[in-house]
Amino acid sequence: MNRLTMETARELLQKTTTHPQLLQHALAVSAAMGAMARHFGAEAEHWEAVGFLHDYDYQQYPEEHLRHTEAPLREAGVDEESIRAILAHGWGVCSDVEPLTEMEKSLYVVDAASALVGATAKMRPTGISDLQASSVTKKFKDRSFAATVNRETINKGAAMLGMERAEIFTLCIEGMRPHAIRLGITAK
Ligand SMILES: [Fe+2]
Repeated sequence: MNRLTMETARELLQKTTTHPQLLQHALAVSAAMGAMARHFGAEAEHWEAVGFLHDYDYQQYPEEHLRHTEAPLREAGVDEESIRAILAHGWGVCSDVEPLTEMEKSLYVVDAASALVGATAKMRPTGISDLQASSVTKKFKDRSFAATVNRETINKGAAMLGMERAEIFTLCIEGMRPHAIRLGITAK
């Protein structure tokens, strides 16, 4: 079975997801996953595709997130490695699949970390153009800021990878910066 490609990920997500915010989130996670893959010397296009598709069933089944993912993706010919990573991103919340590989752990952490990076960038007149991890860390500590972003997931994911939180923010920033226009986080 071939590994998931961006082309297939786009085709599949298009069938279930139309909300601009969800599509922006898919792009942010995808871009962050590309940076994580490069960090680990892995195949960036594959990780980007998995990131893009990770919330496949969320728009249709927000209350049953990840329970309408495995069967349709398998049916569509998506490889098991990609399916497992997608299921593992909801570990402890809406899935009991534990992240084990670098790709799985990366997806688990950047789902939340890229959201915090995006929210921080959106607040700044200069957007993501000169954003540093230290600014994201300040917002991380301010729990009332972007309160829906799960800080615990970011801490747990970083620990699983044996990385500093700031390093993960830096990789998210690097991955997301080239997509600033589509992510709505350019300088104003
Ligand atoms: Fe997500």
